[in-house]
Amino acid sequence: MIHARGLTKRFKVKKESVEAVRGIDLDVEAGQLVAFLGPNGAGKSTTLRMLTTLLPPTSGTATVAGHDVVTDPAGVRRRIGYVGQNNSAGENFLVRDELVHQGCSYGLTRSQARRRADEVLELLDLQLLAKRKPGTLSGGQRRRLDIAMGLIHLPPLLFLDEPSTGLDPQNRANIWEHVLRLREEYGTTLFLTTHYLEEADSMAERVVIIDHGEIIADGTAEQLKSELAGDHLAVTTHDEAGTRKAAEIAARIAEQGEVTVDGTVVRLRVARANAALPAYLRSVEESGVKVATAEATRPTLDDVFLALTGRSLRESEETA
Ligand SMILES: Nc1ncnc2c1ncn2[C@@H]1O[C@H](COP(=O)(O)OP(=O)(O)OP(=O)(O)O)[C@@H](O)[C@H]1O
Ligand SMILES: [Mg+2]
Repeated sequence: MIHARGLTKRFKVKKESVEAVRGIDLDVEAGQLVAFLGPNGAGKSTTLRMLTTLLPPTSGTATVAGHDVVTDPAGVRRRIGYVGQNNSAGENFLVRDELVHQGCSYGLTRSQARRRADEVLELLDLQLLAKRKPGTLSGGQRRRLDIAMGLIHLPPLLFLDEPSTGLDPQNRANIWEHVLRLREEYGTTLFLTTHYLEEADSMAERVVIIDHGEIIADGTAEQLKSELAGDHLAVTTHDEAGTRKAAEIAARIAEQGEVTVDGTVVRLRVARANAALPAYLRSVEESGVKVATAEATRPTLDDVFLALTGRSLRESEETA
């Protein structure tokens, strides 16, 4: 569905040049749901805009839905939907008419566009709002309308730039429900960016992480977490001598010797927490040290980013 090679975008701002995207290679198969993650300014939107032909690449090539973004942008556009980071519906018409208008601009006849408009209104639970002006919708309703706009021509591939940003948890869950339904009903390939790591983790079957315009990780959330971040155990003893002993034992089983001691807490990284914890506790108790508390934690995608860059995705966000 998407095949990009060496995709690069350099912006000239006055005399400065900004390397927004630095030679991206990407292959996405039909039917995949890919979450594209990275801190503010990493190059996510720029990549999406190149893949959707809104922005010409500085260098590199990309075929999207079977057409070249540079030599056949019209061919690409007919086969994809794009929901930008900002609102895409205008304010000239009522909700349903906006959709019909959009459908016609994609080459549907008026009656086809009307039929499709009713289908997407239903799919995104917007029927009751069909006769409202877009400007009167709530944030979540508005975002659903944006998605409906991207879907009017039933594209086999849909790009969504932060579809759920700024919405409350209930509306976010609602957007996800609709996105997942698309995949079920139409087998739509979905390529989306999000800042909600937990959502990407649980919904996407593949996670691609971009930082400073380069892809730094690509795989299932599980793969990335176990390969790059690993599980963690934290065990508390009753005194310093016990902690020292527990740390010694930890050093023997920890992945890459990663053991830290913080007061009476010993933390270590292991491959599989659920298997390692009982074994570790047994060894510690056998050495005569009593354990006060024990905890096993699975890593998050933020831990993956931290392991790769030494920065937290969340901190990078705040300082960007
Ligand atoms: N039209 C432009 N002119 C100059 N620089 C730009 C332009 N568009 C984007 N950039 C720069 O390119 C870099 C990547 O921006 P991009 O919008 O792709 O980031 P992003 O990953 O989508 O971030 P966010 O999470 O904030 O949406 C940033 O440094 C940005 O300032
Ligand atoms: Mg963006």
